[in-house]
Amino acid sequence: MFLLVIAFGCKSNKTVSVTKTVDTLIKYDRVESLIRKMTLEEKVGQMNLYNGFYDLTGPAPSDGDAAQKYDNIKDGLVGGMLNIRGVDQVRQMQKLAVDNSRLGIPMIFGYDVIHGYKTQSPIPLAESASWDMKAIKKSAAMASREAAASGLNWTFAPMVDISRDPRWGRVMEGAGEDPYLGSMIAKARVEGFQGDDLSDPLTLAACAKHFAGYGFSEGGRDYNSTDISGTTLHNIVMPPFKAAVDAGVATFMNGFNDLNGVPVNASSYLQRDILKGAWGFEGFVVSDWWSIKQTVTHGQSATEEEASMRCVNAGSDMDMESYYYIKHLPKLVRDGKVDEAKITDAARRILNIKFELGLFDDPYKYCNVDREKAEIGSDRNIADARDMAKRSIVLLQNESGLLPLNRTNKKVAVIGPMVSEKNSPLGSWRLASEDGSAVSLQGGLESYKGVDWSFYQGVKLIDKPAAFIFETYINETDRTGIDEAVEAAKSADLVIMALGEHGFQSGEARSRTKLGLPGLQQELLEAVHAVNENIVLVLFNGRPLTLPWAKDNIPTILEAWQLGNESGNAIADVIMGEYNPSGKLPMTFPRSVGQIPSYYNTKSTGRPDQPSDKDLVFWSHYSDETLDPLYAFGHGLSYTTFEYSNLKADKKENGSIEVSVSVANTGGYDGEEVIQLYIKDLYCSLTRPIKELKGFRKTEIKSGRSKSIKFTLTDKELGYFDNDGKWFVETGEYEIMVGGSSDNVIKVKVDTTPVVVVEGK
Ligand code: NOJ
Repeated sequence: MFLLVIAFGCKSNKTVSVTKTVDTLIKYDRVESLIRKMTLEEKVGQMNLYNGFYDLTGPAPSDGDAAQKYDNIKDGLVGGMLNIRGVDQVRQMQKLAVDNSRLGIPMIFGYDVIHGYKTQSPIPLAESASWDMKAIKKSAAMASREAAASGLNWTFAPMVDISRDPRWGRVMEGAGEDPYLGSMIAKARVEGFQGDDLSDPLTLAACAKHFAGYGFSEGGRDYNSTDISGTTLHNIVMPPFKAAVDAGVATFMNGFNDLNGVPVNASSYLQRDILKGAWGFEGFVVSDWWSIKQTVTHGQSATEEEASMRCVNAGSDMDMESYYYIKHLPKLVRDGKVDEAKITDAARRILNIKFELGLFDDPYKYCNVDREKAEIGSDRNIADARDMAKRSIVLLQNESGLLPLNRTNKKVAVIGPMVSEKNSPLGSWRLASEDGSAVSLQGGLESYKGVDWSFYQGVKLIDKPAAFIFETYINETDRTGIDEAVEAAKSADLVIMALGEHGFQSGEARSRTKLGLPGLQQELLEAVHAVNENIVLVLFNGRPLTLPWAKDNIPTILEAWQLGNESGNAIADVIMGEYNPSGKLPMTFPRSVGQIPSYYNTKSTGRPDQPSDKDLVFWSHYSDETLDPLYAFGHGLSYTTFEYSNLKADKKENGSIEVSVSVANTGGYDGEEVIQLYIKDLYCSLTRPIKELKGFRKTEIKSGRSKSIKFTLTDKELGYFDNDGKWFVETGEYEIMVGGSSDNVIKVKVDTTPVVVVEGK
């Protein structure tokens, strides 16, 4: 390959309209005149974020903090609060700040609005399986409408951490393993949460988190260290964060992890050089819960003062719950250890966002009881949640065409601990939801008449309900329901089994080393299978699971994740064929935990294939497991079938590549397909992945019809970052692959080497 272009990461390309420019000037003027009036302590106060007194999303604060917090709010020493919610609570706390503090600066109110506020949409990983940017944006907008109507103005979402490790419980909160899909989803979510105008009282300021590398926690153990090469950092981890900046995200959150030896919140390289420097991010960076304090436990800072100094110098603008900034920054400035300009810059960034939210015009603009009543749980929001839930379901296999359910299949036994669950399908990170408010699978199916349904738990999944599920809560002993379920299965025409993880087995701090079906569920599945093989397995889970037995023995498997409030209705719609499934996996499902990290965009290695002599073992493989995953990234079936043909890739004079492909719906149902485009840079100065997603289209194709789909690949898709974060585009041969899954593509080659015309010849 020849080197064509070298450039550095470029600034945010967000366009600024004329009105926006005028507004911006007014905002800057108001912020600057306010800043001139502020004391050092008041500026540091803006950098102080307190937890409220009700919900807890981190280690509990020590006793006595509440009184101190009230005093500090009254003294203008608190910039914002998290985990205060509801118009009454927010109004009360805001009043404390506005009425008592010297300058009456309003606070900002943040909350983890991750996949809905009260009305829960599917968990983010599930939504990502829709590959439907319009629907994802709409879902984020719905979450904002409800949360903003409840007094809030800032969400700690989207989490845009790429992860290749399903042991990490927080994969449920992200968009999966791929930087291209992750970037599209980051943009859709930011635009959904923020709308066109932050000052709209039904939108929230978004927060891209956790900058950076948190999804690569070693061994999938939450809060663990991360060690990431330059190429992986810049090509895999960074793109969704950059996409969030380009989409105009208001804030960033850093993380708990140390990255290549530096706690990320103390990293100037990440926060000042890249985020606020090369990318031109103008919002503010909030620390994660206690993460400033944790630079001490990481063993980098020796004292609270050093921790504060390192983090503020590195560009962490706001301290969540460590209380270090408020305690130490004023003195550090007076002692000449921290430049006051850094404090002023952080305060300015925070005040700017408050101005954009309109809080200076009306500190109570998010506190409208009538709006709160009308918006939360509205029919429109429930309908949006159901629509998103249907789009998130993935049909993993359907070998004997058991689905959609033929209503002549009169007798259907529905078995498993998830059958009547109304809590678990809400998933993790759903603080403001009502416990047990999801429509269960039973509820959804019963609304379809004409089928003889019967329902059995089979086995309990957990012994005691709790917000924090530990493995010791999993039922390993009580088998009392198995016989009855097996009996019912014997005489049924079809069995639907509802199995999986509890909603609280994934999420923050829920890392696992075993990814099979927890408890006695595998035993139940095998016992039922022994008497009736006509099984549709419906999976409820917050992460990829390892289910090789099920794949080999169960004809039909439907991935239903944790789909939120409308879970049962959405699954029933798919089972009954009211909706033709169109989801595709955003994350590889490994065959076993030993295959992790499991991801599709691996490198070739120098020995990718088995040598022809069968006796030789000297190639890159495991002796006890195949290399192929259980289900590949991008995999997902439909009730219809799609055929790909006519793939062409042409180099254009401007250096771009035009790709076209025909996709035909060859089955008996209308359906939506996600047409995925992958590239491989065949020979390159640095080793490149065997396949990289660089485009996709989700489109409906009627039965018997076909569509011609076109993509354009430019330098943006063809280039890559080297270990120092420099951008390269090399010319030469590329393989272009298009298909309905990363492991099912047709291919063509194209050469981008410019034709050199030599004078006179
Ligand atoms: C810790 C989590 O890591 C972060 O994502 C969340 O936003 C904060 N707690 C606040 O709840």
